[in-house]
Amino acid sequence: MSNNAKKFYITTPIYYPSAELHIGHTYCSTATDVMARYKRQRGFDVMFLTGVDEHGQKIETAAAKEGLQPKEFLDRIVAGILDLWKLMNISYDRFIRTTDEYHVKTIQKVFRMLYDRGDIYKDTYKGKYCVPCESFWTETQLENGKCPDCGREVQDAEEEAYFFKQSAYADRILELYERQQDFLTPKSRVNEMVNNFIKPGLEDICVSRTSFKWGIPVDFDPGHVVYVWVDALFNYMSALGYLNGEYHDIDRYWPADVHFVGKEIVRFHSILWPAMLMALELPLPKQVYGHGWLTINGQKIGKSLGNAVDPYVLAERYSVDALRYFLLREFTFGQDGDFTRERMLTRINTDLANNLGNLVSRTLAMQDKYSVAADPDNVEPEFTVLMNTTHAEFDAQMEKFAFQNALQAVFGALDRANKYIDETTPWMLAKDESKRGELETVINTLRYAIDKSAYLLTPFMPDTAGKIQSQLNGSAREVLFPRIDIKKELEYLEQNG
Ligand code: MSP
Repeated sequence: MSNNAKKFYITTPIYYPSAELHIGHTYCSTATDVMARYKRQRGFDVMFLTGVDEHGQKIETAAAKEGLQPKEFLDRIVAGILDLWKLMNISYDRFIRTTDEYHVKTIQKVFRMLYDRGDIYKDTYKGKYCVPCESFWTETQLENGKCPDCGREVQDAEEEAYFFKQSAYADRILELYERQQDFLTPKSRVNEMVNNFIKPGLEDICVSRTSFKWGIPVDFDPGHVVYVWVDALFNYMSALGYLNGEYHDIDRYWPADVHFVGKEIVRFHSILWPAMLMALELPLPKQVYGHGWLTINGQKIGKSLGNAVDPYVLAERYSVDALRYFLLREFTFGQDGDFTRERMLTRINTDLANNLGNLVSRTLAMQDKYSVAADPDNVEPEFTVLMNTTHAEFDAQMEKFAFQNALQAVFGALDRANKYIDETTPWMLAKDESKRGELETVINTLRYAIDKSAYLLTPFMPDTAGKIQSQLNGSAREVLFPRIDIKKELEYLEQNG
């Protein structure tokens, strides 16, 4: 990649190592992967960062339960996460573990710099703590006395601790939202932040703990470990080499072009994160995109809610690409979406088997049968226009992360191509030697529509797009997406899924 290429730095959150990553996590990393692949395809020099967020009391407790040291416990889980990303074809460029030595070094330096500047000070912490979420709450933030994020019990907490002067940055954060209108998107997230967190009075935030050990030690005050969110957020810079010698890309890639994050962690990314960066006089990320949740019956999918959906089962049964496609086509990225097996199977059948798959197999079967030579220049003008418009629409939607609309544009064109077969009836043209020219145009027009669509679909379905390209180039044909008998399949999943 030439160093002149425009850069694009995109991140997923670093995931909490949980033994069972579910389809909600897969959703987030697939979306990021699609965007990274899209930008690479368009010639950008892409840095796609993901990783794991390994510190905190929850990990310490979980490891102890299994009689393991935290690191041993984590190594096993991280292997599973890497395996899932491999399965899902997640093309990250860098994977960070917050236990990595270089990251630890960065965090210790950051903490000290904030302390030296007076943005971190020592005081006594009194409040509530949600262990699973690693979040501190004040009484007023609780909902019915429980954690407002997950609804679970919180604990009383009181200890000597360091605080970050978040309150001092309230005005500058509001200014930031004003000045940089797309800093936080979709727009609804800005209102949530302003009304729920900033307007009621932004509080200083406790950034160290003494009640457990499994964290990055504050190097100038033994006994204190750095609050996980300070540790976690700076991963986006430590992974580029900020304040460490491991990597040297900070000048090339920072500031990030976009952080993709789920809606419940938007507040950390759009308040605490810019506030800390402002304190250190560092450039702010260009954009934070808060996507919605996948839910089941309106409940966030998550293991603790007991309704995890296993991406392995789905990917193995219907293909990785079908799952990737479904996740980004069915749901509106910025909003919550309810997962059902029926929605998934219907989407796969309608779009992938009937529309795309059918178009490819019909076209190539006819091309063979009627011995039509490929000629990329023999294309009906209507389709040149259609595919150009589709391409432009696709790009416009991708730039807004409106994946569902981008895909809809392509599938609209595929639909048109299928109708074009019905209208032109190539099997009739083939019976009449004087219509040979017309037949050749029809088949080549279809090939052109398929070729252009496959190009656009590549970031979403890299394997399928590759298969389509090689089938267009004459390699043996295989059915891309077998049609599913939905009723039977639902019964099967009921018993095995
Ligand atoms: N470790 C923190 C992030 C630190 S980033 C500096 C964390 N980890 S997490 O594993 O709990 O979540 C990782 C991402 O997965 C979040 O963006 C979260 O919103 C997303 N999802 C987890 N469950 C999800 C759904 N059910 N639906 C969509 N996204 C979901 O938060």
